[in-house]
Amino acid sequence: MEMVNQKQSLELVEAEAHIWNQVFNYINSMSLKCATELGIPDVIHKHGGPMTLLELVDALPGVDKAKADCMYRLMRILVHSGFFEGYSLTPASRLLVGDRPMSMKPFVISQIDPILTESMHHLSRWFQNTDDRTAFHTANNGLSFWEQKERNPRFSRLFDQGLASDTPMVADVITRDCRQVFEGLDSVVDVGGGTGTLAKAIAEAFPQIQCTVLDLAPVVAGLEGTRNLKYVEGNMFEYIPPADAVVLKWLLHDWSDEESVQILKKCKEAITSNGKKGKVIIIEMVVDNNESLETQLLLDMLMMTLARGRERKEKEWAKLFSDAGFSGYMIYPLLGLRSIIEVYT
Ligand SMILES: C[S@@+](CC[C@H](N)C(=O)[O-])C[C@H]1O[C@@H](n2cnc3c(N)ncnc32)[C@H](O)[C@@H]1O
Repeated sequence: MEMVNQKQSLELVEAEAHIWNQVFNYINSMSLKCATELGIPDVIHKHGGPMTLLELVDALPGVDKAKADCMYRLMRILVHSGFFEGYSLTPASRLLVGDRPMSMKPFVISQIDPILTESMHHLSRWFQNTDDRTAFHTANNGLSFWEQKERNPRFSRLFDQGLASDTPMVADVITRDCRQVFEGLDSVVDVGGGTGTLAKAIAEAFPQIQCTVLDLAPVVAGLEGTRNLKYVEGNMFEYIPPADAVVLKWLLHDWSDEESVQILKKCKEAITSNGKKGKVIIIEMVVDNNESLETQLLLDMLMMTLARGRERKEKEWAKLFSDAGFSGYMIYPLLGLRSIIEVYT
């Protein structure tokens, strides 16, 4: 009897601890955002080696020296979550040093912006509501994410910079380790290619390829191309310029299955319009039961909340491709959380 009670007590305290951990987990994200905004990785990097707490507080611009103890506590949780070792950088915080080609600083700051996190507070209300397309609409008086972004120049700039900063590492891997994906191509269009970070990298690494970035007018207006890179304003649901290959990076996860099939059908028209048999190159997550699963599921919730999109398992990708009239695909799991998927006509 006593053994049973002890077991029940243990279960209870473990359950309580689990709830506490999940309830306060957002503080991990917020602590990371705080350290990134304060430029802690930049200051430690500039110092060139481990620092003391007082040196760190002294070197951080605008930080109140009387808050040294609070800084110690902020650093302690970030040491715990792997961002610092003592007061020196780890591989994760090295990626948060600004003004470097592969810096993820703008990504971190933009993805934890209140415009994105606020809609999470409206999820339960959205589940009970039949009118709003997403919880983002519920939180923003019926406006979609893209409409709200267009109305808010501060957030729009931040978001575009954040996305652009996600690309250099991906571009580096695909132009170095996946050259075969682009071999033999004369033209590529990056659909929803944002400000063109990926297309620029492809254009530089493969000078024989004519690259086009297609995106909405507010994103590409005024951007200057190069000899083998041009920007086209347009709506991918209406028209995609013809090319040997269409690149879709971090795009289909914004859209429902029905919308993704429409986009893929437009891609198919673009890669077959010259009588050629081109391909679609997708850079996205393939949800799988591996060590990245939790992050992939978090992103899936974000996509549901913002845009009625989703992160997909291989079976779900295969169905999209077949519904859009493609005959086969190949997955290269070379990008950590994400994969390169080649889709064939
Ligand atoms: C999540 S972002 C991805 C941007 C870029 N591919 C990247 O990986 O950084 C989605 C992009 O799709 C663009 N977009 C949204 N709706 C579009 C449409 N109807 N036609 C063309 N582009 C669109 C957005 O402006 C945005 O740049």
